[in-house]
Amino acid sequence: GRKFEKVVQILDAHQRDRTRLVPILQAVQEEYRYLPEEVMTLVATSLGIPPARVYGVATFYSHFALEPKGKYVIRICDGTACHVKGSQDLVDALQGGLGLGGARKTTPDMMFTLETVSCLGACGLAPAMVVNEDVHGQVSPAVAIEILDGIRR
Ligand code: FES
Repeated sequence: GRKFEKVVQILDAHQRDRTRLVPILQAVQEEYRYLPEEVMTLVATSLGIPPARVYGVATFYSHFALEPKGKYVIRICDGTACHVKGSQDLVDALQGGLGLGGARKTTPDMMFTLETVSCLGACGLAPAMVVNEDVHGQVSPAVAIEILDGIRR
């Protein structure tokens, strides 16, 4: 149906070539910001491969998201260097500031998703936090909240 017109366009742009599964999923994710299950099924059918294979690729690469994410994805590094420099305090401050915790990683208004990741490769800047593509270094809980407020404003 029309709902998936974009997906069909993406598939056509890649000549429905099953060897292009990864770039196809990347393009789909750019469109929806995650990989909806129905879309993965559609991709599998169109490429003539089992849905389990598409799902396998989607879960293998951490770059792919199976759940919708907020407009701003905040990643707190919890690698060793950042952990030692207090990354858990950052997580606590942001969870408090966003009303997140436990399994809830995205705010109901779909503005923010909070994730922890292992080493961002910016250990000299520990503790490090990335908001979408922007890297922030030596972030204190107060600064983390300021950055949040700056986005909300
Ligand atoms: Fe945090 Fe390396 S441990 S950037």
